[in-house]
Amino acid sequence: MHNAEAFWDRIAPKYAQKPVKNVNAYQRTMERSRLYLSSSDEVLELGCGTGSTALLLADAVKHITASDISSKMVGIAKRKAEQERVDNVTFVQATPFDERFEPGSFDVVLAYNFLHLLNDVPAAVRRVADLLRPNGVFISKTVCLGDKGLPLRLFVRGLQALRVAPYVNFLKSRTLEAAMEQAAFRIVETGDYPASPPNHFVVARKD
Ligand SMILES: C[S@@+](CC[C@H](N)C(=O)[O-])C[C@H]1O[C@@H](n2cnc3c(N)ncnc32)[C@H](O)[C@@H]1O
Repeated sequence: MHNAEAFWDRIAPKYAQKPVKNVNAYQRTMERSRLYLSSSDEVLELGCGTGSTALLLADAVKHITASDISSKMVGIAKRKAEQERVDNVTFVQATPFDERFEPGSFDVVLAYNFLHLLNDVPAAVRRVADLLRPNGVFISKTVCLGDKGLPLRLFVRGLQALRVAPYVNFLKSRTLEAAMEQAAFRIVETGDYPASPPNHFVVARKD
């Protein structure tokens, strides 16, 4: 089993109980995201966790394939979809590189609180570009701890040593945007919700 899968499986039940950390920042993220969604959209969400965001945005699009490496997260998400009677979201256990995802088959890819968990962010961004149709939109929000000082990063490394934090890539906002531009995305909108530590919102369109 992949390390990340084991980590997230272990914390899934607790994660499901946790309230949204910053309600204003979350609402702002959802409001901004909705502006780019339409009722004909085929959407892929990466790192969907327990599915709350996919279930919330489902009314704005045709269909969401919501994916996550953790079968435990996906199991919780499926139960929530049944309870909420949402029938246009399909939850699957998968990484972004899963071969079931066909190149050029999505109008929108969503990745909230996700990219910073990956070793090779440029490769993941290129994969997203590949999965999108021409003119498709990549909407992401990513904690950018590379923009913060050393003490915070050392603190995170300490949590990892105690196995209470997963692998985290200390990304800078600028590096993240550069990876998108190199993958032939045009940055349409950015923001930080919240500003500290910067949780960097980026909407990028595939040219
Ligand atoms: C911080 S949580 C974010 C969940 C949700 N997007 C949110 O904003 O609440 C990160 C999620 O990414 C998933 N994840 C971590 N590494 C992954 C990978 N390589 N491929 C797919 N999912 C992954 C974890 O299982 C976890 O559910």
